[in-house]
Amino acid sequence: EGNAEPSEARAEFVVVANRLPVDLDRAADGTQRWTQSPGGLVSALEPFLRSRKGAWVGWPGVPDVEVDEFTDEGLILHPVSLSSADVRDYYEGFSNATLWPLYHDVVAPPIFDRSWWESYVRVNRRFAEASAAVADEGATVWVQDYQLQLVPSMLRELRPDLRIGFFLHIPFPPVELFMQLPWRAEIVRGLIGADLVGFHRPGGAQNFLWLARQLIGLEPSRGSVGVRSRPGMVQVGDRTVRVGAFPISIDAAGLDALSRTKAVSERAAQVRSDLGNPKTILLGVDRLDYTKGIDLRLQAFHELLQEGRVNPEDVTFVQLATPSRERVEHYQRMRGEIEQMVGRINGEFAKVGHPVVHYLHQSVNRKELAAFFSAADIMVVTPLRDGMNLVCKEYVACRHDLGGALVLSEFAGAAAELSSAFLVNPHDLDGVKNALEQAITLDPAEGRRRMRALRRQVLTHDVDRWARSFLEALGSEPAA
Ligand code: ADP
Ligand code: F6P
Repeated sequence: EGNAEPSEARAEFVVVANRLPVDLDRAADGTQRWTQSPGGLVSALEPFLRSRKGAWVGWPGVPDVEVDEFTDEGLILHPVSLSSADVRDYYEGFSNATLWPLYHDVVAPPIFDRSWWESYVRVNRRFAEASAAVADEGATVWVQDYQLQLVPSMLRELRPDLRIGFFLHIPFPPVELFMQLPWRAEIVRGLIGADLVGFHRPGGAQNFLWLARQLIGLEPSRGSVGVRSRPGMVQVGDRTVRVGAFPISIDAAGLDALSRTKAVSERAAQVRSDLGNPKTILLGVDRLDYTKGIDLRLQAFHELLQEGRVNPEDVTFVQLATPSRERVEHYQRMRGEIEQMVGRINGEFAKVGHPVVHYLHQSVNRKELAAFFSAADIMVVTPLRDGMNLVCKEYVACRHDLGGALVLSEFAGAAAELSSAFLVNPHDLDGVKNALEQAITLDPAEGRRRMRALRRQVLTHDVDRWARSFLEALGSEPAA
């Protein structure tokens, strides 16, 4: 919650992201309050930046408002305002109806619209100018995600004294798909303005290096890129640009501690009892996004019920879905389809007072989320493509009791780290059904063995380690 103290301070460490970590929420009666912004980027970066007391440049989440810079517990929040037309063309259009589907394996067809591109260029310039105004001489500026890929070069032009990092929170696509983009060379040129360009996976870094050669004739290094090590290099005039892989993570210790509190365990017991103490609770937690595979996990569950492989008296599915990008057409269509599926499954298998699928189109707070994770026997994470997916790591961090099981898509970046999960190909519906059934009938000792291995990975690779490894490679943090 922000308190508005004006601030003229300039910062040595600046994060630039499409969204501020807080959204301005305006009620119908005209009152305003700040709430936490949705999505993995904010969940990951906010705890880290709060410990740094730097500045955060971003959009307050609603169109057509001018908000002055303010500080919140030492963190400078520098709002960039977007008009309704900017939101339509730069955010809903180019960012979320062109880049988002293109970078997620074209699971929906990307739309290429020249006026959206022009808006993307204009808004990126505004973010670059705002960052230039906030950053101190020689400061480090860390630019985030696909909405701002032109900012590194624009900012370098304005402020050659800065050290500039860029991190992409979503997948970087196969080169064949990226090549569809009419503005492909401009995007690569925009990114190459950074001193370090980071991706979740080495494959993304490698694809980018190939494109830098192919599209702008640079000569990248040839060795393979490692995880947190052996970045690729590209010489751009007298600058060396590093290109590396840095898998993002969560505040694992914080969530572990939260999940151990009495308040969370009591709430978890309450959730189970409110659901009628079923033998098995399945849980999905996502932004309501078509990349997340919510529909196909519901379909798998539906078929298991129809085939009598799952007993509706014993098993309950809970799906929490945060509202997201609600004015983008594809999101509207998908919401309708999912809600229809929920209705159909309950129509066939619910009893009065006992739905088999509980669907909440709502966002819940951290404590409540930890309680749901603690209560759930099986966490179902089935994206068709996901840069990382933090939800599965959050679930693991909450299972200090070594209970629970994770069903995880191979197409989430997290699958590379969480090999003790039940890994599934989300396109293979029978495979998903088999994995769900295996998880439902899992031997508890085997479950604990798997969860112990998952926890070892998540607790030793937290968001602080991610940020430090990125900033070390950028040269703005001493090596550990
Ligand atoms: P993305 O960045 O695509 O939304 P991630 O899994 O990386 O996906 O991050 C999502 C973040 O949003 C996680 O921190 C998760 O806990 C949070 N989240 C998702 N759904 C909800 C919900 N219904 N209520 C509260 N938080 C949610
Ligand atoms: O990392 C994915 C991401 O797109 C972030 O960039 C973004 O802030 C978050 O998910 C939520 O999406 P949006 O900002 O469009 O609500």
